[in-house]
Amino acid sequence: MKQWAAQEADPVPGGAGSASQPVLAVEPDQRRRTQMTIELAGIVPSPLADADELADAIGATEPAVVVLGPSYATPEGFAAARALTRRYPSAGFVLVVDAIDTPLLQQALRAGVRDVVALGAGERALRQSIHDVGEAVAAAVNRFAAVDATQEGRVLVSFSTKGGVGKSVVSTNLAVALALEHPGRVVLVDADLQFGDVGVLLGLPPEQTVLEAAGAIETADTTLLDGLLATHEESGLRVLCAPADPGSGDSVSAEAMVEIVRLLRTMFDFVVIDMAPHFNDVVLALLEEADEVLLVASMDVPSIKNLKVGIQTLDLLSIAGSKLRLVLNRANARVNLDVSDVEKALGVDAEFRVPSDIAVPQAVNRGVPIVLDRPRSPAALALRELARTIDGSASTEIAQSETKKGFLAWRRGA
Ligand SMILES: Nc1ncnc2c1ncn2[C@@H]1O[C@H](COP(=O)(O)OP(=O)(O)OP(=O)(O)O)[C@@H](O)[C@H]1O
Ligand SMILES: [Mg+2]
Repeated sequence: MKQWAAQEADPVPGGAGSASQPVLAVEPDQRRRTQMTIELAGIVPSPLADADELADAIGATEPAVVVLGPSYATPEGFAAARALTRRYPSAGFVLVVDAIDTPLLQQALRAGVRDVVALGAGERALRQSIHDVGEAVAAAVNRFAAVDATQEGRVLVSFSTKGGVGKSVVSTNLAVALALEHPGRVVLVDADLQFGDVGVLLGLPPEQTVLEAAGAIETADTTLLDGLLATHEESGLRVLCAPADPGSGDSVSAEAMVEIVRLLRTMFDFVVIDMAPHFNDVVLALLEEADEVLLVASMDVPSIKNLKVGIQTLDLLSIAGSKLRLVLNRANARVNLDVSDVEKALGVDAEFRVPSDIAVPQAVNRGVPIVLDRPRSPAALALRELARTIDGSASTEIAQSETKKGFLAWRRGA
């Protein structure tokens, strides 16, 4: 049996005791409860015995940190934990266990628990976890309070009918560049459910994915979804990664993807989506949901031909005509292709051109987006300009709707 909170620890600044939300604990097993009361005294309050006692102590929409005791780390326990995390979306849950292993961690996170701490990790680790979860809960509450429910974020997708043309380079760098301008207000979704590599391009470890988000989406719970997003520390970009196992992506329906994106657009100003190269109902649904479709083509004849056929067969111009913005990637490649020929072939103006640049694969291999890795390189400058233009058109649109609001108010004599 591991010693609980045995070692003397430095106090964590703003630790459990000073967290702004109430901290509660629950442990149904009486022996464990007594043990927790004695050994975790001063870190967590005496545990409550069950969900009913928790219901009396916590408001359904109040932010709080709830520490679940080790008897929740069983199949029935995880089911009970899941019910609690669903019932109290504004609370952040920490599970304490005897020992952590990967399957346990996965089950806990699937149950909506935000953090798992091994009892043997010591007092400081538990205090830190309670503190971090408390902060995340407070941040989520502030974020959602700040969002005007009627104002939705813009959905930008990076799309092509051909593989390897630079969709993911464009979407990750666009998202990072936007996130630098709008900290905490941008999310990137990897909708390449089989072979998504956004996590790799950003150097993020694969943790929670679209799969968990699809499983949780029926509750339309923003706090829960927020807990499934990774954070790209260098830019503050939030990221929903693709499943690590290519087979499991099949289980995510187009409806679930659209629901995820709709919920994300209530939480963020920009939802950037990286797409798979092939065409399926997920891609079609997201093209319809999008506000802007960045059509990425590389400057080679097969790519342009493929895209032209794709545009015709999908009747893309009728699905997404006014939303299409062409990004010519590797636009300086010496291939005897004229930009105007490309525009004519595709029926879309080449609004953005990103040069071929050795710094791109170098940044890709480092897992650092080029706009951060080599911000003054030709490709990064082009991608930053692309982000600025997209950002500018977003603000113009908001400004226009404000003007309209003002105009209507004036007409009403307000
Ligand atoms: N402007 C560029 N200059 C040089 N290399 C580039 C450029 N854009 C992309 N690449 C390289 O091309 C490769 C493919 O890019 P990326 O992964 O973004 O394509 P994709 O369209 O997302 O591919 P997939 O269809 O497989 O998802 C990357 O390894 C990247 O390094
Ligand atoms: Mg890709």
